[in-house]
Amino acid sequence: MNINIYKTKEELSDKLSDYIIQNHLNGSIAVSGGSTPLLLFKDLSKKLKERRNLNTKFFWVDERCVPPDSDESNYKMAKENLFINNIFNSQNIYRIKGEIEPEKELINYNNILSENLLIDKKIPSFDLIILGLGDDGHTASLFPHEFLNFRNKEDCIIASHPSSGQKRISLSEKIINNAKEVIFHVTGSGKKYVIDEIINKTGNYKSYPASYISPKSTNLSWYLDFEASEMLTK
Ligand code: 6PG
Repeated sequence: MNINIYKTKEELSDKLSDYIIQNHLNGSIAVSGGSTPLLLFKDLSKKLKERRNLNTKFFWVDERCVPPDSDESNYKMAKENLFINNIFNSQNIYRIKGEIEPEKELINYNNILSENLLIDKKIPSFDLIILGLGDDGHTASLFPHEFLNFRNKEDCIIASHPSSGQKRISLSEKIINNAKEVIFHVTGSGKKYVIDEIINKTGNYKSYPASYISPKSTNLSWYLDFEASEMLTK
């Protein structure tokens, strides 16, 4: 496990976007939603603004079951900040259709993964998965209250947000752990305690789904800013 710590979230995003450009433009990448990826998307599209029709394959780690023009849509944030000016070939952008009835879209998205990714031991394998982390230890849409229901799933799952009940389509733990490389991209002091528990296997780490992210490739990295890493460096 590699832990990369940067002074600010801006410096983190600058370095992580450089790393992705140098190592993953020809591969398959699954991106997360939430607020953290916004800076990364902006840096990637700024640094690649002269490029056109790159063949990077983009997928989502998870998506809220909302229309693509909803402010809650993970796809919308990427469309507005990353997929601009045809930098990327739109044929290779595989969004989860949040507007479709979840049970139907689950089948669709599982098929998309099987048709567009390498299958390694019957499970789709991404080149890179970029994960966020919630202060409750969730990642993707693998939430503590229902995580055990999905532990043996080899496909995507339909999750429900613990407080809003909002349905989401998410990669399963097994798919995430089948990736060649997994990166946790986490910033801000609000995550410092959960990061410390997960990395140092202390406190309530066993109740955090993010604790079970352990790619078979062993290629797991954390990209943190100072605030998020504060407990680690104490
Ligand atoms: C989502 C994400 C989710 C996110 C974490 C962190 O759809 O919300 O995939 O897992 O990565 O909740 O969110 P922030 O980046 O907003 O802290």
